[in-house]
Amino acid sequence: MIKFTIITLFREAIEPYLKSSMMEKAVRKGLAEFDFVDLREFGLGPHKSVDDTPYGGGDGMLLRCEPVFAAIESVKAIDPDTKVILPTPVGETWNQGKAREFARDAHYIILCPHYEGYDERILSIVDYKISLGKYVLTGGELPALIIIDSVVRLIPGVLGGEKSAEIESFSDGDNLEYPQYTKPYDFRGMKVPDVLLSGNHGEIAKWRAVHSGKVE
Ligand code: ADE
Repeated sequence: MIKFTIITLFREAIEPYLKSSMMEKAVRKGLAEFDFVDLREFGLGPHKSVDDTPYGGGDGMLLRCEPVFAAIESVKAIDPDTKVILPTPVGETWNQGKAREFARDAHYIILCPHYEGYDERILSIVDYKISLGKYVLTGGELPALIIIDSVVRLIPGVLGGEKSAEIESFSDGDNLEYPQYTKPYDFRGMKVPDVLLSGNHGEIAKWRAVHSGKVE
């Protein structure tokens, strides 16, 4: 069982995806669990404030330490082994190898920052800083979904439909990105490569291996 607890101000931006398709199926099969913590509940003062202006000046607001630490500590009080993931453009770049490392029995917290950023001292409670790539998003919600999706699909039993041994002999399970075709055979003059209609499984497997792109 893999569990993700998502700390966010925008649960409504994340939840529909996790209740759809393969993620919903993973939950229904008891292979994954998703939980939410509303950061606002840990906000300060009558307005439940979670952010403030940066020391030294500058635009925008930063997530404050107190609500973030309190939210994370509330999860760790129940499950001390929980690891904390922070999506941030200055983290290590996410890739398929990392998704594979994360796909195991574990409980992860994903802390979704918003606004212009976060107080640097928040990093002291973070185990993994993850970047989706060299661009800036408005918050951690989309990265959280991408991390969760790419990890959960690797949990045995989530995808179903086992791949044929032939295909597997040419792959490590991820580099299956060879071109694929379905009916019709001829669409506006674009024809399916004849080898795929040959019925020769050895030749088909070879063709696919040659035409495979590799997922990092
Ligand atoms: N938050 C904002 N931009 C991000 C990115 N590129 N990757 C991860 N988290 C982010």
